[in-house]
Amino acid sequence: MPATSLDQIVSLCKRRGFIFPGSEIYGGLANTWDYGPLGVELKNNVKREWWETFVHKRPDMIGTDAAILMNRRVWEASGHVTSFTDPLIDCKKCKARFRGDKLLEEKIGVEAVTVLTLDQIQPMMMAENVVCPNCGKNDWTPTKQFNMMFKTHQGVVEDAAALVYLRPETAQGMFVNFKNVIDTMRMRLPFGMGQIGKAFRNEITPGNFTFRTREFEQMEIEYFFDPSVTDWETLFEEWKALEWEWFTSLGLSPKRLRFREHTQEELAFYSTRTIDIEYLFPWGWGELSGLANRTDYDLAQHEQFSGQDLKYTDPDDPTRKFLPHVLEPTFGCDRSVLTFLLEAYTEEILENGETRTVMKFHPSIAPIDIAILPLSKKEHLIAKAKELYNKIVQETDLVVDFDVTGSIGKRYRRQDEIGTPKAVTVDFGSLGEDSAQGEKDTVTIRDRDTLEQIRVPIGELIASLER
Ligand code: GAP
Repeated sequence: MPATSLDQIVSLCKRRGFIFPGSEIYGGLANTWDYGPLGVELKNNVKREWWETFVHKRPDMIGTDAAILMNRRVWEASGHVTSFTDPLIDCKKCKARFRGDKLLEEKIGVEAVTVLTLDQIQPMMMAENVVCPNCGKNDWTPTKQFNMMFKTHQGVVEDAAALVYLRPETAQGMFVNFKNVIDTMRMRLPFGMGQIGKAFRNEITPGNFTFRTREFEQMEIEYFFDPSVTDWETLFEEWKALEWEWFTSLGLSPKRLRFREHTQEELAFYSTRTIDIEYLFPWGWGELSGLANRTDYDLAQHEQFSGQDLKYTDPDDPTRKFLPHVLEPTFGCDRSVLTFLLEAYTEEILENGETRTVMKFHPSIAPIDIAILPLSKKEHLIAKAKELYNKIVQETDLVVDFDVTGSIGKRYRRQDEIGTPKAVTVDFGSLGEDSAQGEKDTVTIRDRDTLEQIRVPIGELIASLER
């Protein structure tokens, strides 16, 4: 059973060092979150799994890591300067700002709202008596389009010429490097570029912990193909299945996942078809990842705005030059981490009646792989445990925690709460002091999920700990 309320996760994340409120000692900065020691391990594992699956293990994929600050012409060409907007509405009474469409959706449903034009949102909100979540009044200004890109200035002069945007998606970093990649990497269509990195959006209504923030990380793929050779609909189905499989292979239950097709009215300005994978969050279904057919929209726009030839030359017929089409599988990194946290959260009633909270992370993303726990603070037990710790960290790539504080029971509880799959207890048997019981030079390995404890000879410990 996963977490049933977001509060369970927010509280565990703070208590156990996964995610802290941003700038906390200064009273915080609304909707910013800092990954703590365990959160960064979890997030890095998620990114590593994604990179291995979609970049390292595929001969048709390469990686990039473009700059966050890009020439602002990139965003003029991509359409973000004119079209990356949300409908903003102000409460006349308390001046609070909201996404008008989102408030209306709660009242009349997504389908009914997506068919409305911008001018129709405010009258409909008045007619449907949509009240301000802040002051409870139904008195709204007309809706305005609000561009969500963060602006800053490059260099010391803060004038219009120095204006730059913080990228709102990582995707454009791949399109503008398309020519560099085909010139240097000898890639043949179909091939893809993958990138993981920060994106920034001045969201009107961020919230639900790390679900919607203004600074977040994306894991995106631009998969280029020749539309006269590859059937885009077949390729679309393949990528749909691959996205689904990635989430389920890392522990998300298919019961809490679904595909949702975008309606024509809802489609982003660059897409002819988009499908999302949604997760059943404690507050309802929400977007986790997407898949869009961006056709040759972006390359054509960049060719036009930059004046550069971005065409691909058919290696089998060098007289044939064309702009490839592209499918875009896109994953929210922070949203993925949030779903893995929600899904892992489990409360169990033990035989003695106590409740055990355990994070049942898939072993490949658990922040800590192994805990080494000396049974007590006796010096010779600690020395032996340290010797084992050093051996494991030197001979494997496992992340190991060494914990001596508190009773062994409390330490098991802590490791359960942070989701460590295996705990190794060093006791008197490890030192040969229990040799009468036949437990000479052995340790106990405790399994997080089954609570089963097995004794293994120290010489076989590393082999038994493989992920
Ligand atoms: N390049 C296409 C693109 O950016 P998107 O659907 O706007 O598409 C992709 O974003 C993914 O990024 C989403 O599926 C979501 O997981 C994540 N995402 C978008 N906005 C976000 C936000 N404000 N906070 C956290 N994650 C966000």
